[in-house]
Amino acid sequence: GLSWSSSFLSLAADDPDFMGREIAEQPETVERILSELAPRVSTGDLWRELGLPHFRRVAVLGCGTSLNAGRIIAHAFGAFGAIVNTAVTASEAGAVVLDAETLVIAASQSGETADVLRALDELQTGRGRVLALTNSMHSTLARRADGVLNCSAGPEIGVAATKTFVAQVVTGVCLALSAMVARGTILRAQADAIVDDLRRTPDRLENAIAVSRQWVPDIVESVRDAQGFLFLGRGAGVVYAAEGALKLKELTYRWAEHYPAGELKHGPLALVEEGTPVVVIESADGRLSANVAEVRSRGGRVISIGGPGSSIPVVDGHPEAFARSGRVSQGRGGNTFAACGPLESVVPMQILARELAIALGRDVDKPRNLAKSVTVE
Ligand code: G6P
Repeated sequence: GLSWSSSFLSLAADDPDFMGREIAEQPETVERILSELAPRVSTGDLWRELGLPHFRRVAVLGCGTSLNAGRIIAHAFGAFGAIVNTAVTASEAGAVVLDAETLVIAASQSGETADVLRALDELQTGRGRVLALTNSMHSTLARRADGVLNCSAGPEIGVAATKTFVAQVVTGVCLALSAMVARGTILRAQADAIVDDLRRTPDRLENAIAVSRQWVPDIVESVRDAQGFLFLGRGAGVVYAAEGALKLKELTYRWAEHYPAGELKHGPLALVEEGTPVVVIESADGRLSANVAEVRSRGGRVISIGGPGSSIPVVDGHPEAFARSGRVSQGRGGNTFAACGPLESVVPMQILARELAIALGRDVDKPRNLAKSVTVE
């Protein structure tokens, strides 16, 4: 398969912007998080040390990129333990009804986002059931929560979140796994196997960085003038498609929408014309091939992220690795979801957004109209 070459390190160190360096830091960030957390996952201790009460359901809330990370974390509770789960858009929490046995995980990089703090006031949460997942252990959110889990990404300066996203996903998935071991829902040996797979994440991210640096520049040239983009996936890939579309909007100021691939024919296909860029996060079961064919036959420019033969082949050639990107482990819920899903697929989308933004003369560290931490509602 394709492997990482050490030359990208010097390229990354030369990136003049914080965002480029923060993208490049993702493998070492995950490596550090796993060396800290992994020993406490399959023992259940990571969960137990938080001192939170027993729960039956999970609601993960957040805004922006943290909400996308929260969606993957919510999936993980369902896949590992058939836990009924939901992701809540913090600014819409007022209409959400939760019962007293719901664990609320508030995901916020800064821990200062007003919509998240307000949501905690609005949600009728059970006593002692709010866990903060944050990159700032001294934040308002950390002080208000009943338990705090540090996503340990280190300082992130670029307004568009990158390394804090992968840090939240990996930390939250470790938490879900640990909680399921602690309650006896999955066996320690099963958890060990999933942790072993998680430990390969840094290599996968490194490979994705190297491959993307090689393949993305030509793609940038070909989509430079496009005014709108579609991002498609299935399963966890839908969430990564959402994050890819969000990065593209934030960085390039181009319109970008994400959809579950199956929804394409129910509306967004009308947007596809000659040259419309459609980013597709492939899955191993081939269920996206019909969707890709629909796009191609209308002249759409398909940019596929997946295994060998993709426009951006970030998943290596081993059948096992490719299977992991789609339907693999059968969770207790009958869900098909392997740990983080195709997490490495986010890397080429971050790099595409950044490189297109640079080509268009945008300020990648400080996109117009946006702020790193939004303390107003
Ligand atoms: C702002 C930032 C986003 C971020 C969101 C949530 O909108 O520009 O990048 O995802 O806030 O921030 P938080 O600190 O709560 O994760």
